[in-house]
This record gives sequence, C-alpha cells and structure tokens, in this order.
Amino acid sequence: MLERLVSGQLQAGETARPPRLVAAMRHGVLNGGKRLRPFLLIETAALFGADGEGPMRAACALECVHCYSLIHDDLPAMDDDDLRRGQPTVHRAFDEATAILAGDALLTLAFDILADAATDRDPAVRCELVLSLARAAGLGGMAGGQMLDLAAEGRRMDEAEIVTMQAMKTGALLRHACEAGAVLGGADAGERAAFARFGVAIGRAFQLADDILDVTATPTALGKRTAKDRDRGKATLVALHGLDRSRRIARDLLAEALAILEPFGERAFWLGEAARFVVGRDH
Ligand code: IPE
Ligand code: IPE
Ligand code: MG
Ligand code: MG
Ligand code: MG
Repeated sequence: MLERLVSGQLQAGETARPPRLVAAMRHGVLNGGKRLRPFLLIETAALFGADGEGPMRAACALECVHCYSLIHDDLPAMDDDDLRRGQPTVHRAFDEATAILAGDALLTLAFDILADAATDRDPAVRCELVLSLARAAGLGGMAGGQMLDLAAEGRRMDEAEIVTMQAMKTGALLRHACEAGAVLGGADAGERAAFARFGVAIGRAFQLADDILDVTATPTALGKRTAKDRDRGKATLVALHGLDRSRRIARDLLAEALAILEPFGERAFWLGEAARFVVGRDH
C-alpha cells in the first residue's frame, strides 16, 4: 500500500507530482525499515477485531510520518547522518532542499491518507485518528521532543528530562500506533487507555534499545552510523547510567508492557512478541 500511496499517481485536485520529489519520498519510505509502528497499529486493531484496508491505511499514514521524521533527523542541521537503513540518507542521495520537501510532503500525505473516507466509513473515527497523529507528531510530541534532543547536545540532562524528551521524540508515535489501533477497533475508553500505556512503555524501551545499540552494534547490523550519540554529546540514559543499568531498565519496561497485555490473553500474543523484539533486538 505504501508503494501505491507514495507514487507519481495524481489524486483528485492535484496538478502535478514532481518526479524528483516522488523519487526522494520513495527513497525515504521504501527502503527497508522495520515497520514496527505499522505492525503495532495493525496488531492492536486486529486484537479488537478490525482488519483490512482501514488499519492498513492508518498504518501507512503513521509510517509516512515516521519516515519524514527520519529524513529530517538525518539532515546536516540536525544529526548530520549519511547512512540510513543501509543506504545513503535522502539529502545524500538527492540534496538538502529536496530532503526537506520530501519530509514536508510525507507529513502532509499522512493526513491526506487518514482524512480519506477509505480509511474509515465513520468521519468521527477519521477525526479521532487525525487528532491523535497530529498531537503525536507535533509541538507536544515528536517535533517538540526533537527540539529538546537538539537543545540537550553537550549539556547534562537529568533522568526525568531525558525520559520526557524520549517520550516525546520517540514514544509519542509508538503510543499513537497503539491508540490508533484501539480507535479503529472500537475499543472502549479503558481499553484505549491501556493501549496508550502499553505504547508509552514500548516507546521508552524502544529509544533505550536504540541508544544501547548505538554503543554496542555495528553500522552493518543497524544500517546506520553507530557511536554517534557520544560523538555529538547526546543526552541518553546510556550515557547517564551505563549499559548494565540501561538494560535492566529496558527489562523492567518490558515486564510493565507485558503486564498491560495480560488481561487480553492470547489475543495479545503478537503484541507481546513485538514488545520482546523491541527490548531484545539487534537491529
Ligand atoms: C529509528 O526508528 C528512530 C528512532 C525513533 C529511534 P526505527 O529503528 O524504527 O527505524 P526503521 O524504521 O526501522 O528504519
Ligand atoms: C530519532 O532518534 C528520533 C526521531 C524522532 C527521528 P535518533 O536520532 O537517536 O534516531 P537514529 O539513531 O538517528 O535512528
Ligand atoms: Mg536524533
Ligand atoms: Mg539521529
Ligand atoms: Mg539513535
């Protein structure tokens, strides 16, 4: 579906889709990401009995926002990275201005996808999804967290500040993945809140694992540069606590996430596997 949505095919009301911009967007999206966020969204929706095109479209919208965040995160003005998913970053394969625009267009495309009636027959559900993704991606979510991340370079942050920054820059989109799945599946308020908490726990564990892998993994395994957090003086829990304590925190977060799934029994099997993957992953 991403292949089809991020393409040169004109939509109603559009005049032209510049091929160079389409190519840059496709480079940023169709280049072998783990697709963890879409997986969580689709599996949460499935747990509540929703499947098919709706969850798939909402998952694609989220992946578009995630890929935009990576394209901009890698820009010279931000983390200045040349390698992503084992390939040159978008500004390397194209140029900086094109990478900025590819990010802009992916972010906008996400809301185009969600607002389209094909995502859900009920306009109230579509509005709910749009609102949740906007909050997760914006000022009080991912973009705000990226601001805090950059502002912290070379400055010591305490644990609470790092947890807040990571909950925003990374946790917000993972939380949205789980909440959006619950919304599409018609979950009640209590169930939705449980999945929001599950997303928050996985979000924390996920960035912790990313920061651990930055120290322990190889660029070949990760498909991106490593040892870059120390180079750039990034504030991470690994820098603050060291590897052993960071791994213990990650294990505690996994236990917390699995406990939230407990009442859902076998229906939550794949979400439990995803949580285990987040903490145990080597890429
Ligand atoms: C990387 O995310 C950026 C972080 C939030 C740590 P992923 O590790 O999910 O990246 P891809 O999508 O698999 O490349
Ligand atoms: C990225 O965190 C979080 C985003 C919102 C993109 P990092 O800067 O640690 O991600 P990588 O290590 O470049 O993938
Ligand atoms: Mg970054
Ligand atoms: Mg980065
Ligand atoms: Mg990182």
